Amino acid sequence: MAPSLTDARELKAFVVDEGHGVKGLSELKIKTLPDLFIQPLEKRLDLSKVVPQESIPVIDMSNSEDPEVEERICDAAENWGFFQIVNHGVPVSVLEDVKEATHQFFALRADEKKKYLFKNSPTKNVRLVTSFIPEVDKVLEWKDYLSCFYVSDEEAMAFWPSICRDQVLEYMNKSESLIKRLLEVLMKRLGIPELNETNEPILMGSRRINLNYYPVCPNPELTVGVGGHSDVSTLTVLLQDETGGLYVRKLNSENWVHVPPIKGSLTINIGDALQIMSNGQYKSIEHHVVANGHENRISVPIFVNPRPSDLIGPLQEVVKTGEKGLYKQVLYSDYVKHFYRKSHNGKDTIDFAKV
Ligand code: OGA
Ligand code: NI
Repeated sequence: MAPSLTDARELKAFVVDEGHGVKGLSELKIKTLPDLFIQPLEKRLDLSKVVPQESIPVIDMSNSEDPEVEERICDAAENWGFFQIVNHGVPVSVLEDVKEATHQFFALRADEKKKYLFKNSPTKNVRLVTSFIPEVDKVLEWKDYLSCFYVSDEEAMAFWPSICRDQVLEYMNKSESLIKRLLEVLMKRLGIPELNETNEPILMGSRRINLNYYPVCPNPELTVGVGGHSDVSTLTVLLQDETGGLYVRKLNSENWVHVPPIKGSLTINIGDALQIMSNGQYKSIEHHVVANGHENRISVPIFVNPRPSDLIGPLQEVVKTGEKGLYKQVLYSDYVKHFYRKSHNGKDTIDFAKV
């Protein structure tokens, strides 16, 4: 039954607890956005701060061994924290398949999807969520997402939704060598010649994949798809569809830059963990997704992370040159817990690790 749009409790139960999500609400073809989703002005994207003439770097990875390409990658990580890559080696068919699988998962009936809500899911590694942390968010974000933490193929086969599992695993596997190559290049500039059995697990020892769904929104200007935040990953590989709507903050400025969809491309961004490990040389940048009044948008980020049990801090090779460490050693699982304790609020998570 359709919920009352004015009773916040009833609405939240429909959206959050019954598996309908904001997608279910969007499909009721409501004409006005319920108050529960109306964000305060400071959380919405200020369009007057968007600089349309600027864009993040687009890097062709076909010759990723070329020193010039390596330089562009490292420069982008230092000066933008965000870049798009083309000819990256992940087959376009794999990207198309995971996008299609994302649509198929969200097209399931609410009573099917409900099985993956945290309260029902047989594993804590798979959960379907609306907004970011609905228990904490005072105002909800206009987004549903399925979040899968990768433990093993067996675990994924047992617990990930069968409608999208194979495609998500394939996407993850096919991006493995790209991720290694990017990290190798980024480490080289920090004076670390190679990935080895000590540093590799700290840089990329765990993965989380989210399937994000941003349904058509009435009054998109009053809410957000995702509020401004930085990722807590080492780096994030993001696949977006052709809709657009992702904005990134330009380094050390108030301005926002749009990330235009480029067919076959992937967007790479540096996360907090790599900002910390590089002692601030590589930048984890605040980003924001607007809600959309016309299209259902999907995106599929792979968050490449340290292992939960890793202690992260500025890497020895970076601080041994006499540079002062800007961050202390923190247990990665504590860092992530801190992220999930509060609603999205720009770049504030990293304060947790500051000395
Ligand atoms: C995220 C995110 C961006 C997007 O999931 O952390 O920033 O374009 N997504 O959906
Ligand atoms: Ni993000």
